[in-house]
Amino acid sequence: MKNHIDLLGHDVPVDVAASVLIGLSAHIVLNRFELWPKQLFTVYWASVAIYTRHLVAEQGQSLASAIVRTLGLSYIVIATLLVSVTAHRLLFHRLRRFPGPLSCKLTKWTTVSTDLNGLRSRFVDQQHKKYGDIVRTGPRELSINDPSVISAIGGGNSPCQKGPWYVGIHGGKGGRSHSLHSTVNKEDHAARRRIWDAGFSQKALKSYESEIHTKTQQLIEELSSRARKGQVLNIDDWCLFFGYDLMGAVGFGTSFDMLSKGVIDKNVEILETSMAHIMVVSNLPYLSELVRYLPNPMKDFEVWLNMVLKKRIESGTKEDYPDVFAFLLDEDKQSGWKHTWEELVSDAMLMALAGAETSSTVLGLCLFTLSQHPDVLQKLRDELDDVFGKGVPCDDFDDLNKKCPYLNAVINETMRMYPPIASGLQKETPASGLQVQVQGKQIVIPPHTVVHTPTMTMHRDPRYFSPEPNAYRPERWLDHHKNEERFEIKAFNPFSFGPTGCIGKTLAYMEIRLALANLVQTFDVKPTKEFNAKEFEDGLLDIFTTKRSKKMPVTLELRQQK
Ligand code: HEM
Repeated sequence: MKNHIDLLGHDVPVDVAASVLIGLSAHIVLNRFELWPKQLFTVYWASVAIYTRHLVAEQGQSLASAIVRTLGLSYIVIATLLVSVTAHRLLFHRLRRFPGPLSCKLTKWTTVSTDLNGLRSRFVDQQHKKYGDIVRTGPRELSINDPSVISAIGGGNSPCQKGPWYVGIHGGKGGRSHSLHSTVNKEDHAARRRIWDAGFSQKALKSYESEIHTKTQQLIEELSSRARKGQVLNIDDWCLFFGYDLMGAVGFGTSFDMLSKGVIDKNVEILETSMAHIMVVSNLPYLSELVRYLPNPMKDFEVWLNMVLKKRIESGTKEDYPDVFAFLLDEDKQSGWKHTWEELVSDAMLMALAGAETSSTVLGLCLFTLSQHPDVLQKLRDELDDVFGKGVPCDDFDDLNKKCPYLNAVINETMRMYPPIASGLQKETPASGLQVQVQGKQIVIPPHTVVHTPTMTMHRDPRYFSPEPNAYRPERWLDHHKNEERFEIKAFNPFSFGPTGCIGKTLAYMEIRLALANLVQTFDVKPTKEFNAKEFEDGLLDIFTTKRSKKMPVTLELRQQK
């Protein structure tokens, strides 16, 4: 048998030529079929073993030289694959006509690196400023800065579904059981969402009011006792304690006891740090699958949560103390869907994270913005004094919603400036692609494209919010039709949109309104001299949720003692 062939005038060993061919074929296969690390490893090592055996048995090579030769050839396969993928992504890809940075066109690792530094929303914003309203932010991903695209990709009639990131957050294929949030299949998601909806009905929300009161009161009492001692506190830690204690109670009838202890619970700490890592690796779902095999502290959290939920089931649902979990135990009448135990555990974890992280971030950031804008704080106090009376605790959820427009403007303006989920969440176009309007022009988005709408960029775009899109001005939310040059409410999207948008929006407003109103009526929150507002703002990192890398140390002065 011939060992060499003539390739463009060069004498090339047959197995080298075959390796190049295999590399090219591998690209075609990988483009059509999703292969995951386990399958790829199996195919790779099986091929290495078979060819090594062939070299030893058929060609009489020593084992060592057969292994070296086979590994060398396998590198040729991999190098050919990489060259082919690169050439395809740049020159032939269905998104090749869309502008964007070279590093994003080539690989999703670019997003991993911006996410590791918490800079995604800032990075994407810069790319929009450079390339325009449509930017290619990944090999098969676009970011589109136009509010009408939010409903086109996320509305009830949209043919799009959740993108690959959602497969990554539950550990890739064969990973943890899906939560509602990571359920990609639309029918399954709709069935689960109907079960969840019952836990967020008007009636259910009404029944959580007493728990929100209790936790708010506890927050005020714990802070008051520390204020009397003149202690310096990291105020956003306390917002986090409040958020988790409340979600533990309203979500699944447990308490993390963080308000009473004044320190972060060990399990919550594990959840927070692990999830921050998971959010980053989920950009490459195959990476999530690999990471699953590494030692993972989340397992300890899951063991703890399993125990808490078992106890919760044993003690039953108290009539006067309902929680969301009680509703999750029901079946969806329309489809017959009933949650498995693993799904219940994933949903309880989702509740703690989605519910506590975001709301406590907004509460902490409201206190930050108010500390920087004494005029706004004064107006807010005037409004609360008018509605509830001077020095009287704010306790009526309806009044806080309907009679306090300035309070609501402060909260919304804080979320506009600092959205707690700053990068838009991904949707994937169907096999037929999707037609959308971008700034009035019809655009066809090719099939299986991952699309983002950049929340932070939209919130600060002068075409949607003017004048002064970068200024903190709650007034823009009042009489905006009369006074504002631009106020495009569709561009305000902190809770996402449509059937997969935030289910806890009303609950979030209820708890933030009550806690914020009582905090500003009870305390003067004064950042310490060392606090640097610019550094704090620059230290806001986008790791799916907005994290504060810089603390806000404050002293609290009780107002009625003045
Ligand atoms: C200011 C506070 C909040 C903000 C800004 C916020 C934001 C969001 C956003 C942007 C999403 C969409 C995520 C996606 O499409 O992948 C979402 C989903 C979700 N949120 Fe919230 N959220 C907040 C509070 C809450 C609260 C208090 C709960 C209570 C449990 C909650 C529960 C959920 C759940 C369960 C989902 C998944 C919905 C689904 O996939 O159908 N959120 N939230």
